Amino acid sequence: MNVLVIGSGGREHTLAWKISQSPHLTKLYIAPGNGGTWEVGENINVKDTDFGGIKEIVIDKQIDMVVVGPEEPLVKGIGDFFKEDPELREVPVIGSGRMGARLEGSKEFAHRFMEKYRIPTPGYKSFSEGQYEEAVNYLDGLTPPYVLKADGLAAGKGVVISETLREARDTLKEFFGGKFGEASKKVVVEDYLEGRELSVFVLTDGENYKMFPLAKDYKRAGEKDTGSNTGGMGSLSPVTYVDESFIEKIEEKIVKPTIGGLRQEGIPYKGFLYFGLMKIEDEPYVLEYNIRMGDPEAQVVIPRMKSDLLEAFIALSNNKLHDYTLEIDDSVAAAVILASEGYPGEYEKGKEISISVPLEQVHLFHAGTAYDNGRLVTSGGRVMAVASVALTFEKALAFIYEQIGQIDFEGKYFRKDIGYDI
Ligand code: GLY
Repeated sequence: MNVLVIGSGGREHTLAWKISQSPHLTKLYIAPGNGGTWEVGENINVKDTDFGGIKEIVIDKQIDMVVVGPEEPLVKGIGDFFKEDPELREVPVIGSGRMGARLEGSKEFAHRFMEKYRIPTPGYKSFSEGQYEEAVNYLDGLTPPYVLKADGLAAGKGVVISETLREARDTLKEFFGGKFGEASKKVVVEDYLEGRELSVFVLTDGENYKMFPLAKDYKRAGEKDTGSNTGGMGSLSPVTYVDESFIEKIEEKIVKPTIGGLRQEGIPYKGFLYFGLMKIEDEPYVLEYNIRMGDPEAQVVIPRMKSDLLEAFIALSNNKLHDYTLEIDDSVAAAVILASEGYPGEYEKGKEISISVPLEQVHLFHAGTAYDNGRLVTSGGRVMAVASVALTFEKALAFIYEQIGQIDFEGKYFRKDIGYDI
């Protein structure tokens, strides 16, 4: 079958890499893809939210399945666009429809949903533009730090944790003032929880689900988890600070009620669902839902899969997910992100990347890379992930840090301490 992967990040390169190994695949396309996805398929330069352009590819290339990586096209309704178009209706889309996408697309919706289905999550209150004074009064009654979340999608920058009331007020003003357009005209103020974060992924057809291995990411730009928040500077799988009984707790208290809630609400859902959790003592709490795989968690979860990912997607689209056996390697996996100097703030692009091959014991998953007149150059803040699957984290990280020296570009920045805390 012909498959089209939508997106251009490290997660999409990882999904495309795994799909490319499937015997069910005839031809793989990626739109728009990056400098790395060329190695596993054919890139087509169409933006992930250009639904008209995507339709043309699907018809022209006789695509049999579309796999959507990032959240934005899902929240904008790519799944519904396919369902409503007579020429596309029969093409399965792996990714939630618009209704399910509200789990990520509206923090308020997600909170209401969790409240209704008694899914453990921090307390919250939401405020709309025009309720600035009420929001400040509410914040006044809390103790720091203050957690403010833009209701809608804000390119990963919509969560601000402030140590002082003054900072929180300023954030509120910026959000209501339209810092993220409509996405921040509504703000959720959430109780601050202290614990250890972890990421949980399921693939679901809305009835059945398969739980993937757990992972953790390193969100801060600086060593020892300091500095600005990023999309993630590294990741590990599995998570060493949870055991089987905690995973069962996650399944019983969070995964099952979420899938059951979607069913009860009549919300069809076919795709990945990502639970951003906080572990407090021995209890899991949902900090956020995402309607996609994590990035850079995909880079450590997917390489641990022994079974065929495309086969899972085929089973999912035929409502046969219960017949699919997800096989996971006993090994562990780690990934370290090579970023452009300055990320997540301002950074320069177009720096030539040199890679001394052969790289050993690692996978390179590209993100912000592109070809410019035959030269591989940087085109984003997170440039690529160097990932490794090994028997221990020590080995995986040793392979990664050794091989990072083989990859060079001006301003290459990476955290040297991934795994320091486990
Ligand atoms: N690594 C965090 C995310 O994918 O949202």
